[in-house]
Amino acid sequence: MDFTHCFKVIVNRGKEFADIPNCLGSQDDMECSHTREAPEGSADTWHNCGCEHHTSAQSRLFIKGGRIVNDDQSFDADIYIEDGIIKQIGNNLVIPGGARTIEAKGKLVIPGGIDTHTHMQLPFMGTHAVDDFYSGTKAALAGGTTMIIDFVLDQKNVSLLEAYDKWRNWADSKVCCDYALHSCVTWWSPEVAKEMDILCKEKGINSFKMFLAYKDVFMLEDNELYEVFKRCRELGALGMVHAENGHLIAEKSSEMIQHGITGPEAHEMCRPEEVEAEATNRAITLANQANCPLYIVHVMSKSAAKVVTKARRQGKVVFGEPIAASLGTDGTHYWNKCWRHAAGHVMGPPLRPDPTTPGYLMDLLANNDLQVTGTDNCTFNADQKALGKDDFRKIPNGVNGVEDRMSVIWEKGVHTGKMDPCRFVAVTSTNAAKIFNIYPQKGRIAVGSDADIVVWNPNASRTISAKTHHQAVDFNIFEGMLCHGVAEYVMTNGHVVLDEGQVRVTQGMGRFIPLPCNSETVFSRIRERERTTKPCKVEREPYDGPVAKITATQMSEKMIVADNPIIPNNAEFHGRPMTSSGARQQIDEKSPRRSTTRSLNPPGGKSSGLW
Ligand code: URP
Ligand code: ZN
Ligand code: ZN
Repeated sequence: MDFTHCFKVIVNRGKEFADIPNCLGSQDDMECSHTREAPEGSADTWHNCGCEHHTSAQSRLFIKGGRIVNDDQSFDADIYIEDGIIKQIGNNLVIPGGARTIEAKGKLVIPGGIDTHTHMQLPFMGTHAVDDFYSGTKAALAGGTTMIIDFVLDQKNVSLLEAYDKWRNWADSKVCCDYALHSCVTWWSPEVAKEMDILCKEKGINSFKMFLAYKDVFMLEDNELYEVFKRCRELGALGMVHAENGHLIAEKSSEMIQHGITGPEAHEMCRPEEVEAEATNRAITLANQANCPLYIVHVMSKSAAKVVTKARRQGKVVFGEPIAASLGTDGTHYWNKCWRHAAGHVMGPPLRPDPTTPGYLMDLLANNDLQVTGTDNCTFNADQKALGKDDFRKIPNGVNGVEDRMSVIWEKGVHTGKMDPCRFVAVTSTNAAKIFNIYPQKGRIAVGSDADIVVWNPNASRTISAKTHHQAVDFNIFEGMLCHGVAEYVMTNGHVVLDEGQVRVTQGMGRFIPLPCNSETVFSRIRERERTTKPCKVEREPYDGPVAKITATQMSEKMIVADNPIIPNNAEFHGRPMTSSGARQQIDEKSPRRSTTRSLNPPGGKSSGLW
């Protein structure tokens, strides 16, 4: 659709609606707020006011002759789209007149990608990410991603609701594709607990991210994290964690500087794999004890991935998100002689110097030990990275990925034979849609789903380069990578935004997609466990024998607390063994030593059978 034309008709009210291709609007529709101008500074002349006229004026599309690929099956069929929704799928469809035909013979027709992890225009480490909600989402679309989920991440002690409003204001006027938000909890108080409730019930948030890294900035202590996890479980929200040991990183970073190692290689050396794996394990333990579902963002190392894999096999409700960077490149770049090149790869947790890491993570992704892919897209130009030219601790952390994720995963996953196209769809969109509770509106080609569609040419190839990418950043961590598998047409809400190599977008044409709580994929097992693992006390006669006396000099009253390791609390319940997934075992009163019955469905929990 020609948006420029549409805008001109709208501002020149005297003209006929017939001037707008495929326009179904009536003259009366002209009386609404169509005259809203494009945002200031916009290169584009049309702005989506979201009114009835605009939604009905979207193109009718007919995608012909392609092979539709969903996460569970692929088949040859045509697709008819109207008003941004898939209306018909099949062969020999009867199509209303005026539809544009897109020829897809020999191509795959897949759901648009969902990038679960971006930081557009994030204020961070004294500067802000250079890709904003406009350039970032434009680039996403160019690469076949039709929805992003960004993080509301403000300073400690800032109201979560105020931060949310700030992000909505930034994003709503700029996004070219649909988007949703996660909210970050970087401090804890009763007020935060209240705001989490409002975010879930009124603002379309169903996931909260916490940091075990960035000491004194975003980091929570274990007791706070446990409280947030309990709150998430109550609200039906998913807990997410950036898993690195922030205390250790602070210590080891200072040691590096003391040793005179100030370059980007120190960034990796002061936070090796173990530091990520320890925090991953700790987060999983705390979440499991709170019976809270957990999502580990940016899984960067074999060690952390093994922790996630093991926890899943023990039945814990945990999901792992490798990112384009960890699947597509490695940390050997930190030792590159060019400072800018090395600094361009600095992110947290870091890429790993073990060059077999990307292949290993891809194997786990292919086999469902890991489930979803994001990018952690958070980009900084050379001059911004140079803030840390003399001290690696000041290099703004973050890399690109939002444009190239689909190609990188196809190249390293499908082209290598590790995963089939259905699994590609699962890990690039469907699983994200299920976890974040917007399936099948997103993540599936089906009648009634949003027309977020990519016509994917598995036989075409392209070479990634900062010279040709659509992102605002001046560097690309995948520079020179030859990728088979290219997005040829991309549709978002039924608009063709990548059209024969041309990206045609307008600021603000994307929508905010609220994420409802209590996703079935995430919470069905949790709710069952809530019921089956309720602690219950043992009814017994009170003990009436002698009790040893402790004098004040031996021990102050304050020290006699339940978590004192020297004086364990002898409450019977706490002595009862746990199952590996964290459920308390029920004890047969008559023969307590022998008979233990799991109160939980099998280790691994009841399978939802979704993947
Ligand atoms: O280096 C990174 N990952 N930058 C963005 C903030 C975060 O930790 O996700
Ligand atoms: Zn992070
Ligand atoms: Zn991030």
